[in-house]
Amino acid sequence: MSQPALGERSLDLTDPVTFVDNDVHGFWQEVRAQRPVHWHEPTDRHPGFWVVARYSDIQPLFHAEALSSARGNVLDVVLRGDDSAGGSMLAVTDPPRHRPLRNLMWSAFTPRVLGEVVEQIRQRTDRLVSAVVELDEFDFAAEIADQVPINTICDLLSVPVEDRAELLQWNKMALSSDRADSSELDAISARNEIVLYFMELAQERRDDPGEDVISMLATTEVEGRLLTVEELAVNCYSLILGGDETSRVSAICAVLALIENPEQWRALRTGEVSVESAVEEVLRWSSPAMHLARTATRDFDIDGTKVRSGDIVTLWTISANNDETVFADPRRFTLSRSPNKHLSFGHGPHYCLGAFLGRAELNALLSALVARVGRMEQRGVPRPIFSNFLNGYESLPVHFESR
Ligand code: HEM
Repeated sequence: MSQPALGERSLDLTDPVTFVDNDVHGFWQEVRAQRPVHWHEPTDRHPGFWVVARYSDIQPLFHAEALSSARGNVLDVVLRGDDSAGGSMLAVTDPPRHRPLRNLMWSAFTPRVLGEVVEQIRQRTDRLVSAVVELDEFDFAAEIADQVPINTICDLLSVPVEDRAELLQWNKMALSSDRADSSELDAISARNEIVLYFMELAQERRDDPGEDVISMLATTEVEGRLLTVEELAVNCYSLILGGDETSRVSAICAVLALIENPEQWRALRTGEVSVESAVEEVLRWSSPAMHLARTATRDFDIDGTKVRSGDIVTLWTISANNDETVFADPRRFTLSRSPNKHLSFGHGPHYCLGAFLGRAELNALLSALVARVGRMEQRGVPRPIFSNFLNGYESLPVHFESR
């Protein structure tokens, strides 16, 4: 008897191991072709939910008033029933509260405000890359990708240097794991640790403000009142997680893709393709956040499929970013790809607040590689991340020859 096609066989999208053990891109290709909007059956532990896979369905859903983020914007959290930060943390706050909160936070992340930070990112990245060139072998994840995003966001929040290693470890457990056997409880307790840490720091900054983002958030009113310490802490949590995890995995993915596609690395080094264009393809290719989750607030339909009020709807941006009706030959890493309207930063009202920063970090990495590195060689198998949200690797052993 012939095997059912992968898309018909169904993968358990709630299980992190699924994304390590399977040809996920093959799966999404079949889903887009055969059942682009379908119901994911409940599992022993979780209720069912809608899966949306095509770019043309996903993009407008980012604007849909019938979809709420308030019960969570990540599948694991929504499946548990509720996000305790709903209505307090920007990413899980719906209109009308979302807009004034976003305006406040955005004021710390505009390109103008971040000008100096971008220069620091460039210097830090260049220093780190210079230090590893000509080492016999090193782990790109540990030596570079683990260092830049966490230190950038911690500089912005003025997190004491001695606390950063621990924060990085909690971050790594909060949305993903480097082990197949880690439990949901490990992730929950890591998230709690981060929030508790920032409750203390937020109170300190409220009492004795400085020049950093936490102090600004702690001392500025939104709709006529200051944020509570709990509200401050969950938004710091979201900045630290958003600012670190996704940027880190996209950097690792960039180096791996350049090693696997030497002709693309050559095009970048020779200036045939611009760093800006390459950054967009790295973002599309890496799709660091594989999905976003929402909850329907009323009955509506997606491309003819009835969704009921209360249903969970998941938008698989990793699939949209590889939709062959939008991106020609999507499984080719093509640094000159244009247009390249990937959905890696989401779309609509919740569009990533740190997109400028995320792009600046990748730009600094690619620029430093071009300036310092000649040949890049992989020296072992990268260790995958176990997550149904975050896509990528936890380690990448390499050797860089100097230019
Ligand atoms: C929102 C991805 C970097 C902070 C988002 C969303 C995505 C995303 C997909 C939309 C969430 C939704 O619709 O529910 C990424 C990727 C990054 C990155 C791929 C790097 C490559 C950053 C950085 C920061 C950050 C550096 C820190 C400043 C946020 C925040 C939101 C957000 C606060 C919520 C925005 C809102 O709800 O209005 N990000 N992000 N992200 N991101 Fe990022």
